[in-house]
Amino acid sequence: MQLVTSPSKLQKICLQWRCDGSTVGLVPTMGYFHEGHKNLMRIAREKADKLVVTLFVNPTQFGENEDLSTYPADHEGDAQIARDLGADILFIPDAGSMYAKDHATWVDVPQLAKDLCATSRPTHFRGVSTVVTKLLILTLPEYAVFGEKDWQQLAIIRRLVRDLHLPTNIIGGELIREKDGLAMSSRNAYLTPEERAQAVHINAGIRAGAAVFEQGEHDVEKLKAVIRAHWQRHLPLGKEDYLEFIDPDSLEPVTTITDKARCAVAVYVGKGRLLDNWPFYL
Ligand code: PAF
Repeated sequence: MQLVTSPSKLQKICLQWRCDGSTVGLVPTMGYFHEGHKNLMRIAREKADKLVVTLFVNPTQFGENEDLSTYPADHEGDAQIARDLGADILFIPDAGSMYAKDHATWVDVPQLAKDLCATSRPTHFRGVSTVVTKLLILTLPEYAVFGEKDWQQLAIIRRLVRDLHLPTNIIGGELIREKDGLAMSSRNAYLTPEERAQAVHINAGIRAGAAVFEQGEHDVEKLKAVIRAHWQRHLPLGKEDYLEFIDPDSLEPVTTITDKARCAVAVYVGKGRLLDNWPFYL
C-alpha cells in the first residue's frame, strides 16, 4: 500500500490506472476506523481492481464549535487496517493541499441539505459535498462506497453525482452495529461508560417504534411518541436533535407510512452527537 499525501500525485496515479484499463474503488473516510469502515473497504475491494481509501478530517464540514480539533485519530492503526484490507493507496492530505488559501468554489445540494442534520449543522453538507466532489475528481472511481448510517449524506452524494454527471457508481454500505444495537461511529469514542450504556437505547427506542409499526400503526406522530417515551425512560442523558420519518430518496417528511419511510434520528449524548436510521417499509 502506498501512502499518498499530495492531491496531484493521487490524481496522476489514478489517471494512469484508468488509462491502463483498471477500475478504481474509492472509500472516503475521516479515519479512526471501525467495522463500518472495514465493511466499506471490503465492498470496494471486491468491486474494483484498485482500492483507494482517503483519510481526511475535512475542516469545511465542521461548524465553529464542533469537534474538528478533537476528532479521534489513529493514523498508524488506520494504515494497518487499510493495508490488511488490500488498499492500494491510503490518501492522507493536509488541509492546505485540499483547500488553497483563496479557495472559493463550493458544491451544494440545498434541496436535500435543508432539514435533519442541516438544521443544527447548516454548513455541514456544503463541506461534505465539496470535499467528496474533489475526491471523486481526483480519483475518477468506478465505484465509491459510503455508509448508510449517514443516510442524508448518502442521498446528497447520490444526487450530486447524478446532477454533475460524475462517472461513478455510488454504493451504500449497510449500517454496522455493535452487538447491543448501537450504530458504530468514530464518535462513540467520546462516550463515558454511563453514556455508552444509555446510548444503546437510541436504537432500542427506534425498534420499540418499529414493533408498534409492525402491529399496524402507520401514523408517524404516534410512532414518534412511542420512540420518545422509550428515550425518556431509558436515555435521560440523551437530548434529541431530531427524530423524523422521511422518504428514503427525496428525504421529504412522511406523516403516514403508506409505502416506505426511513426513521432518521440524531441524539446528543455527552460530547457525542449520534446518528441512527431504520427502515419502516410496508
Ligand atoms: O462520512 C464521512 O466520514 C465524511 O463526511 C466524508 C464522506 C468522508 C467526507 O468528509
